[in-house]
Amino acid sequence: MRVSVIGCGYLGAVHAAAMASIGHDVVGIDVDPHRIALLAAGEPPFFEPGLAEILTEGIASGRLAFTTDVSAASGAAVHFIGVGTPQQADGHAADLTDVHAAIDSLIPHLSPGDLVAGKSTVPVGTAASLAERIAPTGATLAWNPEFLREGWAVQDTIDPDRLVAGVPAGAAGERAADILREVYAPAVAKGTPFIVTDYATAELVKVSANAFLATKISFINAMAEIAEATGADVTQLADAIGHDARIGRRFLGAGIGFGGGCLPKDIRAFAARAEELGKGESVNFLREVDAINLRRRDRAVQLVVDALGGVYGRKVTVLGAAFKPHSDDIRDSPALDVAVRLRGLGADVVVTDPQAIENARRAHPQLTYEADRDEAIRDADALVLVTEWDEYRRQLTPEHASALTHGRVVVDGRNGLDAAAWRAAGWSYYGMGRP
Ligand code: UDX
Repeated sequence: MRVSVIGCGYLGAVHAAAMASIGHDVVGIDVDPHRIALLAAGEPPFFEPGLAEILTEGIASGRLAFTTDVSAASGAAVHFIGVGTPQQADGHAADLTDVHAAIDSLIPHLSPGDLVAGKSTVPVGTAASLAERIAPTGATLAWNPEFLREGWAVQDTIDPDRLVAGVPAGAAGERAADILREVYAPAVAKGTPFIVTDYATAELVKVSANAFLATKISFINAMAEIAEATGADVTQLADAIGHDARIGRRFLGAGIGFGGGCLPKDIRAFAARAEELGKGESVNFLREVDAINLRRRDRAVQLVVDALGGVYGRKVTVLGAAFKPHSDDIRDSPALDVAVRLRGLGADVVVTDPQAIENARRAHPQLTYEADRDEAIRDADALVLVTEWDEYRRQLTPEHASALTHGRVVVDGRNGLDAAAWRAAGWSYYGMGRP
């Protein structure tokens, strides 16, 4: 099938390459010429495991091309919209500028019978208004939310947990769902659940999934706060409640909380949209979820301050900058927030990360960066683990660290280290929600 993908950021670039890898003829379109030049050369503009391989394969096979010229979309049967919907600069609502720009640029190139499939995360009600805008072209709109996780994006796109197609009522909707089944034929053939809904439900599936995940993380972080007041261990608590299949252990990792380009802005946009709908009360708890999440960053900073008896002039090595491992994304990164706050208190902060240093340096040029982990921790008074890369969690032993550092204080902002092993090696170990 001929497919166009408008917007080649994290979502769109992966989607375009993944669609080519399952056999479609794909053109990826973006307004950023630098991004398009990189992609056309088979180079991912960001770190995403497995993406370089499918980009190179797709381009070599002739099934994958990238351009800034939106007229290349004409002739495609399906046009995916994968542009970003960031948080507005002056509020919590989603900024839909790029979605509207993408649709407006695409409209002159649509033909009757084309399917426009929205993948971006949007406030509920957006699809219905976009459907009206494209109606005069004779194209149909579907809302087909994307659930990919950064770091697993290729796998999540090719082999998702479920597919959701929000379509209009009637024959046009049935046809739209059939086209999407054909697009995702390999996953559908494997028995991946394919759920057909109306527009509003499809839009809400996405935001409610992210709201649930964020709530789960803040729930366990709230339990961490209670654990801190009582001497309990939140990691054991999470293991124990996680054995209940109704609860499940995943996303019960207590620590400095969630960040990234999705969960924080999506829960804020959801609350803002609910407010507009007169239903703010229904998701008031999301404000609490956000507040708990942000408090945990303060807690990590406080642990360092208390452990060192003040951080002014002390060397603190921050292990991690990305919002999570297997990513170079630093959007709303709790790791960098902790680093910036420590620096604000006068600590001599050195940040290290296997992938995210360049992005971090652009966003926070005031911090000191050192790509080499061992150089970064040399003569440190304290280590603070904030992104649980294997390089720090598994490969950095307390014995190795002891030979390099000045102090013996480690604050484990992700509960990723073996506390007993660090203590046995003479370190003062501080976890999140642990005695
Ligand atoms: C998320 C959703 O998982 C995905 O389905 C959606 O499409 C986009 O948003 P992503 O932002 O890539 O994906 O990251 P995710 O793996 O969900 O992690 C989000 C944040 O939560 C990270 O900062 C991570 O460190 C944190 N987290 C995750 C925890 O603090 N504890 C956990 O137990 C799990």
